[in-house]
Parts: sequence; structure tokens; C-alpha cells
Amino acid sequence: MSFVEYSEFIQEGDVAIIFMGHGSMLPVKVEQGAQTQTRYGVIRHSTDLIGRPFGSKVTCSKGGWVYVLHPTPELWTLNLPHRTQILYTTDIANITMMLELKPGSVVCESGTGSGSLSHAILRTIAPSGHLYTVEFHQQRAEKAAEEFREHKVGHLVTTLNQDVCKEGFGVTGVADAVFLDIPSPWEAIGHAKTAMKRQGGRISSFSPCIEQVQRTCAALAEQGFGEICTLEVLLRVYDVRPVSIALPDLGDEDPLQAGLDTPGEGGAPATPDANAAITLRTAMPPRDMAGHTGYLTFATKSPV
Ligand SMILES: C[S@@+](CC[C@H](N)C(=O)[O-])C[C@H]1O[C@@H](n2cnc3c(N)ncnc32)[C@H](O)[C@@H]1O
Repeated sequence: MSFVEYSEFIQEGDVAIIFMGHGSMLPVKVEQGAQTQTRYGVIRHSTDLIGRPFGSKVTCSKGGWVYVLHPTPELWTLNLPHRTQILYTTDIANITMMLELKPGSVVCESGTGSGSLSHAILRTIAPSGHLYTVEFHQQRAEKAAEEFREHKVGHLVTTLNQDVCKEGFGVTGVADAVFLDIPSPWEAIGHAKTAMKRQGGRISSFSPCIEQVQRTCAALAEQGFGEICTLEVLLRVYDVRPVSIALPDLGDEDPLQAGLDTPGEGGAPATPDANAAITLRTAMPPRDMAGHTGYLTFATKSPV
């Protein structure tokens, strides 16, 4: 199993996503002899997982069943162990397009955090691209590097444990794109410019507060970046739900017509049912919606 290539069968050492229902998933590291407890009972890795195809329906010890899914960056973002705040698919999708990432792209990122964005970048730039990810918190940097190896994407990423604002990305003139998710991105814009290719590229920064955005935009302009723009991506999801709609009482029918057409007893017109209703399935936006997460600022470095 690898996060950038699909494998058919589950092997020891793989990550598998146990899908127990909508909004209920669990990542497991597959190990001979290990067991995972779920509300449907125990899953025995040796007999229930190893050697079976990803996507299998597995019956647990209490008789309930789950699906065992191949990991993807989308599923990892929903299930990863949070060591920090993370970026979610809505922002990641926008970042990937707006940074023009593709197979072969070279990307610099800081901070690595929990590696949510990193995994998405790695799948996009594989098999020939490279990610330089900088994290100044030692344990987070080490844990991220360990996960990249376990997820078989270690060859695509260099994890650096340093302060990006002081020491930069450790590379010069190689990056097609730079992404910043740190509290003071304006302090890293000069280093980002150094890391980027002479022929230019794209940069993006994520910040929750508009004051951070103002300082970042000022630094981008000062460093000669163009096409500076800031946006906020809000997701509106629709739920499909049954709704009951009352049938309108349109009053008496034309008595003449009613008398002729209604086959009721003695030719009496049928009385409309005041409680008549029909049930339909309809798509509705939720009453509560996730609000502001952060602003995404984008800019372009022109060729020099
Ligand atoms: C919000 S998290 C990044 C989350 C990440 N984008 C993800 O999707 O999982 C911010 C990270 O930046 C790191 N950080 C903050 N300032 C830094 C700096 N100057 N140099 C390197 N890392 C930094 C923090 O330690 C933290 O782990």
C-alpha cells in the first residue's frame, strides 16, 4: 500500500481505514497478531485483514460488519491523528489548483503540522515531483517523517526541522510553488522567493486573521510578487432528507362537475382530507454551516 499508488491486497505494515458508517471511520496500522476493537466487535488483523482485498466487507466478532478501505489523502485528512490544526479538503482542493500543482512539481511547504496538506500535495506531484516541508517543532517533524515513510511516500519528501522564518526551506531556485501555514508568513516571503525557480511560480498562504493577511500581502508586494489575491472558501453541503408536504385544500369542486364525476355514495362530492400530505425526498442545505476557517492568499513570482 502507498498513498500514491493503489494496491489490491492488504499487507502487514499497511494503513487501512475501517469504515463503520457515515462520519465513523478509524485508521489502523495492520500488524500480524494485532486486534482492533470496534463497536461491532473485534477485528483480527491476521485473519480479517492481511491478504484480503482493500474494499472488503469484514464481519467483526459481534456479527456487525465494516468496510476496510485503501487510504487516500482525502480519507487521511478525515482520520489522521491531530497534532495541530489541519487544512481540510475544501481549502486543499483550492490550493492544489491555484498553485497549479501537477505530477513533477517541486513544492516547498511550512509548517508540516499534522501532514494533512502534505499528503495531498504528495499524491498530486507523484511520481517525479518533490516536497520540501519545514517544521520547527522537533517531535512534529519526526512524526511526520515517520508517517511519510510508513505511507511509502518518503522518497518524494524531505522533512526539515528548522525555523522557516530564520533558515528558509533549505533549497534555492528549485520550487514551482510555495505554501505557508504558519503564524507569521510575512517573515518567510523572502525565503520563499529564494526557494522558487528563476522562471517564477506560485505562492499561497493560509491565515485565520485578516491582520495576518494584510502583513503577508504587504510583504508579497514588497518582494515583487504580482497577481496578489485573497479569498475565503466556504463549503455548502446539501443533505437529502424526507419532507412531508401538506396537500392544499382548494375548496369545493364545481358542484355540477362534482355531481357528475364523483362516484361517491348517492353522487355526493368527496370531502377533501384536511390532513392529506405527501412525503418527498429533497435536498436541503443544513441550518448550521461551518463558518470561517481562514483566508487563502495567492500570488505569482514573475520570471527574473
Ligand atoms: C497549523 S499547523 C500546519 C498544519 C498543516 N498545514 C496541515 O495541514 O496539517 C502550523 C505548523 O507550523 C509550525 N510552525 C509555526 N511557525 C513555524 C516556523 N517559523 N517554522 C517552521 N514551522 C513553523 C507549527 O509548529 C505547526 O506545526
